[in-house]
Amino acid sequence: MDKKSIVKFDNVSFRYEAAEEGEKLPLAVDGVSLDIKEGEFVAILGHNGSGKSTLAKLSNSILIPESGTVTVDGMNTADEEKSYDIRKTVGVVFQNPDNQIVASIVEEDVAFGPENLGLPRDEIRKRVDDSLKAVGMYEHRLSEPHKLSGGQKQRVAIAGIIAMLPKCIFFDEPTAMLDPQGRKEVMKTVIKLNREYGMAIVFITHFMEEATLASRVVVMDNAKVVMDGTPREVFRNRDALRNIGLDVPSVAYLAEELSKSGVNISSDIIYEEELVESIEKLIGDR
Ligand SMILES: Nc1ncnc2c1ncn2[C@@H]1O[C@H](COP(=O)(O)OP(=O)(O)OP(=O)(O)O)[C@@H](O)[C@H]1O
Ligand SMILES: [Mg+2]
Repeated sequence: MDKKSIVKFDNVSFRYEAAEEGEKLPLAVDGVSLDIKEGEFVAILGHNGSGKSTLAKLSNSILIPESGTVTVDGMNTADEEKSYDIRKTVGVVFQNPDNQIVASIVEEDVAFGPENLGLPRDEIRKRVDDSLKAVGMYEHRLSEPHKLSGGQKQRVAIAGIIAMLPKCIFFDEPTAMLDPQGRKEVMKTVIKLNREYGMAIVFITHFMEEATLASRVVVMDNAKVVMDGTPREVFRNRDALRNIGLDVPSVAYLAEELSKSGVNISSDIIYEEELVESIEKLIGDR
């Protein structure tokens, strides 16, 4: 059976208001159709200004399309009466954790969302504890957020979103401001939310390696979706990617260079394990 759609963009266009009256900015999102299904893990790639963040904001009614429709679990995001239910269903995690943390104690910050839902005290307690455990920050529940590392802060921000029990989370470059350790922590958390909790994940990133962790990669260029497929299908289009200012994962680059220089290795490799296996096989064959 086909999986249920959680966020569906149907021929969606959006433009920002120009500062000058009478002026019109170009479309920031131009005729995008994209269907995110229950439990899916989708990465979104695209050069600066290609429309990725705008798409994330259109996913839970922070922005409303100029034309076309965004449907969240059956609800039209243009329907103001539904905006509350829409934001419970789709959460967005942004780049800078400092802008997302509102309270001065970790557990109070995570409780903020559920409290606004008007849930009973026991239920709030349970959701806060469960969310903090899910992101591995339970031991820090009484800490002050400003004393945490970037990766820890971002995980607290993620806990605040999962305390709302969303079916889908859009991550807008959540690792961009983090050091390698923080990036690893956040990626591990994101993968766990998808695999163990079955949440649909849409992960916007500039890191090609992070995109290979998804099961589907969508590429945006100039406000449009220009590629949509498995990581292998997408990263096969090396020249097309380079033409729009994107790279391929370093493993893919290495495999390509080895293959070009006559080493008997598939140029289709994108995962580290595949590369290791192929090289081991080559050594064994000698
Ligand atoms: N508040 C705004 N007002 C006017 N134009 C905006 C605004 N926010 C974004 N834009 C423009 O809309 C287009 C798409 O921007 P968006 O932020 O969605 O791109 P992005 O792919 O997320 O880029 P980045 O990789 O830099 O985060 C760009 O041309 C950008 O300059
Ligand atoms: Mg952006």
